[in-house]
Amino acid sequence: HSELDPFPKTFLWGSASAAYQIEGAYQEDEKGISVWDTFVKQPNTTFKNTDGDVAVDHYHRFKEDVALMAELGLKAYRFSIAWSRIFPNGKGQANQAGLDFYSQLIDELLAYNIEPIVTIYHWDLPQALQDQYGGWESRQIVEDFTRYATILFDTFSDRVNYWVSLNEQNVFITHGYLLGTHPPGVRDSKRMFAANHIANLANASVIKAFKKGGYKGQIGPSFNYGPSYAFDSDPLNVLAKIDTEELMSFFWLDVYATGRYPRTVMKQLEKLKLAPVVTEADQQLLASGIPDFIGLNYYQTATVKASTNDSFSGDMGMNNSGKKGTSKEIEIPRVSKFVKNPYLEQTNWDWTIDPIGIRIALRTIESRYRLPVLITENGLGEYDKLEHGEIHDPYRIEYLQKHLQEIQAAMTDGVQVLGYCSWSFTDLLSWLNGYQKRYGFVYVDRDETSERTLNRYKKDSFYWYQKVIQTNGDYL
Ligand code: BG6
Repeated sequence: HSELDPFPKTFLWGSASAAYQIEGAYQEDEKGISVWDTFVKQPNTTFKNTDGDVAVDHYHRFKEDVALMAELGLKAYRFSIAWSRIFPNGKGQANQAGLDFYSQLIDELLAYNIEPIVTIYHWDLPQALQDQYGGWESRQIVEDFTRYATILFDTFSDRVNYWVSLNEQNVFITHGYLLGTHPPGVRDSKRMFAANHIANLANASVIKAFKKGGYKGQIGPSFNYGPSYAFDSDPLNVLAKIDTEELMSFFWLDVYATGRYPRTVMKQLEKLKLAPVVTEADQQLLASGIPDFIGLNYYQTATVKASTNDSFSGDMGMNNSGKKGTSKEIEIPRVSKFVKNPYLEQTNWDWTIDPIGIRIALRTIESRYRLPVLITENGLGEYDKLEHGEIHDPYRIEYLQKHLQEIQAAMTDGVQVLGYCSWSFTDLLSWLNGYQKRYGFVYVDRDETSERTLNRYKKDSFYWYQKVIQTNGDYL
C-alpha cells in the first residue's frame, strides 16, 4: 500500500468494552441497581433471558484482562463507568468503593502505558433515577448527569485524557422509547423525541462542564453512524438517501457538532406535533457543548429506495423492524424503504459487511463537521469455536483488516483519525443476543446456560492485532 500514508506514531491502537457487558458483580461494593439489571429480569427481554449479573467477571479479573491487553500491545482501552457504582442512587453521596475500582483499573492500564478512554454513560442508568423522575424523560437528569460526570473529571482527569460523554444516544433512545427493546421499554415517538432532546442537553452540559472546569484532555460523544446509500441513480432514491441520513444520523450529529437540529427534520416533526420543546436557553446550552472529537461506532451501512407510503408518522419505521441492524425490508413512510445491497455480504446477524462504508462515514464527518474522529467501536460479532484451547477466527481478521485499510485510506484522504478501538477486547454480553455473539480478541469460556470456567483464551485475531500494533499498521 505504498500510496497510503503511514499511521501516525501517536495513533491509538485500542479496543473497547462497556461496564454492564463485562463487569458482573452487579451488587458488590455498594453498587446500585441499574435499569439494565432490572430490565433483563423481565421475561422475553433478552436472548434466552441472559443477564449480566456475572457477565465475564471482569470486576474480579480486571488485572488478568489488563495483562492480556498489555501482551497484545494495546495503546488504548475504552471502557465505561457504571453510574450506579459511583452513585448507587444516581445522586447524593459518591460511593468510594466504586471510585476505587475504576481508579485501580486506570492505574493498572497506565502501568502498562495503555491510554484509558473513559465512557461516562454506556446505557446503565441508575434505576433510582428511572423510578424517581422517569430517567431521560425529566430535565432533572441534566443536573444529575453533570454532577456524576464532574466527580469523574475531578477524580480521574489527572490520569485520563479521553472522555466519551454518551454512548450511542441514537441507539439507547430509539430502542428505549420507540422500539421498546431496551429499558424503559416505551413505544411512543413523541416521548422518544422529548427524551432525546433532554439527552442532548445532558450531553452538552457535561461537555460544557468539562471545558469550563479546565480539565486537560478531550471529550466527545460516541455515535452509531452507518451511512445510507441510494439504491441507484433514480433521483427519488437519491432524495430518499438524504432524507434517511438527516432523520437517522444528522438529527444527532448536527446537534453535537453545530448545536443545531437539521431544519428539514424539525419542520416535519413540528407538523406532526412530535417536535421536542427547545427553549432559547436550550439552544445556548447546545451551542456551548461542542465536542473536541466525534466518537464513531461503525458496524454497517444501509441502502434505500424512495418510500411509496405517504403516511409519515414519526416512528422512523422502527416499529416494524424490531431489531437494530436488521436488513429486513423496513419502510419509513414518506422517507425511505430499506433494501438489500447487491454488492454487500452480511453477517450471521444480517448486518452488512462494508469496509468502504467506514471510509465514507469518516469522509462525511470530515466534510460536514471538520472535527477529528476517534473510532470508538468497530468489529464483527460471530459464533466462535473453542477447540483444543484455540480459536480460529480468520473471518474476524479479514473484517478488521479491511476496515483498518479503509481507515488508513480515509486518513490519506485527509480525515483526522485519533485512534481505533475494536469492539471488543474480551468476548462479552451482547445486550439482546446473549454470549453467543462474540466480538473479542479474547475468548471467554461461558455461554447462556452456564458460567463454566470463565477462563480466557487468545484467538488467532489476538496475535494478528498484536502484529498490526507492533508494526504500527505496516502489517496491514
Ligand atoms: C453497539 C454498542 O451498539 O454495538 C455495544 O455500543 C454493542 O454496546 C455493540 O455490544 C454490538 O451490538 P450487538 O447487538 O451485536 O451486541
